[in-house]
Amino acid sequence: MSQPIIKITDVHKIYTVGGQEIAALDGVSFEICKGEFVAIMGPSGSGKSTLMHMLGALDIPTSGTYVLDGEDVSAASDDELADVRNQKIGFIFQAFNLLPRTTALKNVSLPMMYAGIHKDERERRAKKYLELVGLGDRIFNTSNQLSGGQQQRVAIARALTMSPSILLADEPTGNLPTNQSLEVMKIFQELNDEGHTVVMITHEPEIAEHAKRIIVLRDGKIISDQPNSKRRSQDGQNNKSSKKKS
Ligand SMILES: Nc1ncnc2c1ncn2[C@@H]1O[C@H](COP(=O)(O)OP(=O)(O)OP(=O)(O)O)[C@@H](O)[C@H]1O
Ligand SMILES: [Mg+2]
Repeated sequence: MSQPIIKITDVHKIYTVGGQEIAALDGVSFEICKGEFVAIMGPSGSGKSTLMHMLGALDIPTSGTYVLDGEDVSAASDDELADVRNQKIGFIFQAFNLLPRTTALKNVSLPMMYAGIHKDERERRAKKYLELVGLGDRIFNTSNQLSGGQQQRVAIARALTMSPSILLADEPTGNLPTNQSLEVMKIFQELNDEGHTVVMITHEPEIAEHAKRIIVLRDGKIISDQPNSKRRSQDGQNNKSSKKKS
């Protein structure tokens, strides 16, 4: 097995509200290796978003350790966390988080602008990733001129521009009808086939079925961590039908 890109060890996250302590994460440990496609599931309140915040370097654990791509981020300062987010994580959210009256090209270019990348290079990369998600002919459409599935694909292209170590998605299909959800899952599978590491939070079993491994949380603890047997038995088919990309 290759080196873990994520290593979480005995992570606890305790919230204190009105003098009462809530263990949102209660001793969670796992490793995720480069090239995995993992779905994190669990009922409402089980700790999925709390875990996502931790994995995405938006927050640190109360105790336990988190090593991301060889770097211990368990006790990082806010500035250090911001650097980790910019360099290592591509976020994809339920609500897409695109600017509405802004073109796909501009939306995808924005993180590169903040990173100080030159205009020509921004445009080159933005076009490349929009083509990759099948939107090469929509680059001048504004977000409100795109379907939900297309908007989520713009958000995926945007997440890819800074070559993140992991793609982290929180309920990426939560706002989409079934056909558009499948469109987005197809892109995730293709990215994963090309070697991207994908970690996706979802409460929908039909969406989790697209991942190769499923971790289930309940009351802040892992109750199951298994390879997805359904996906694996289809793998040969998926690979044959997936397009070859340079
Ligand atoms: N900022 C906070 N302050 C206090 N308690 C919190 C906070 N955030 C989450 N919690 C509590 O921690 C637990 C886990 O919440 P979390 O948001 O991680 O659940 P979830 O699995 O994402 O649920 P859902 O499927 O409803 O989004 C819940 O009991 C919640 O009430
Ligand atoms: Mg949540």
